[in-house]
Amino acid sequence: MRADPAVECPNADVDRAVTSRDATILVGAVDDVVVASVMAGHDGHRGWIYYLAVSPERQGRGHGREMMAEAELWLTARGAPKVQLMVREGNETAAAFYTALGYERQDVTVLGKWLTPSPEAE
Ligand SMILES: CC(C)(COP(=O)(O)OP(=O)(O)OC[C@H]1O[C@@H](n2cnc3c(N)ncnc32)[C@H](O)[C@@H]1OP(=O)(O)O)[C@@H](O)C(=O)NCCC(=O)NCCS
Repeated sequence: MRADPAVECPNADVDRAVTSRDATILVGAVDDVVVASVMAGHDGHRGWIYYLAVSPERQGRGHGREMMAEAELWLTARGAPKVQLMVREGNETAAAFYTALGYERQDVTVLGKWLTPSPEAE
């Protein structure tokens, strides 16, 4: 069993996103230095956002808001009527950030199941 599935395979997640027509990774740069990135994808029903991150020394300058606006534009252009995202329990900074951007807590429970063997089983 995987101890913490969401953080186990970021490299594989990135590989899948950059080779899919339904997903992308947006990168924000200042003076040619990467300072932020975000993954967005459209599952045919809704848009999803993952892995938003701003360099620690660049946080609090609006880059996170900019990255989210670009991700939302990307999803809107692909017909997604709604965007959703998941925030890890305890990440109060992220929750407050998304609330400031107009995101609302949804009354749902997220369930997951692996469809491929776990790394420990290989
Ligand atoms: C969450 C994160 C992306 C925010 O990026 P950022 O560039 O610092 O955020 P911004 O400067 O664009 O802030 C946008 C708004 O969110 C608000 N905000 C940001 N952090 C906040 C906090 N901890 N509490 C309250 N409001 C907050 C800002 O006040 C700002 O509001 P305003 O535009 O009305 O003034 C950044 O902190 C980060 O990379 N965290 C580590 C990775 C992470 O947790 N990612 C989320 C995974 S779900």
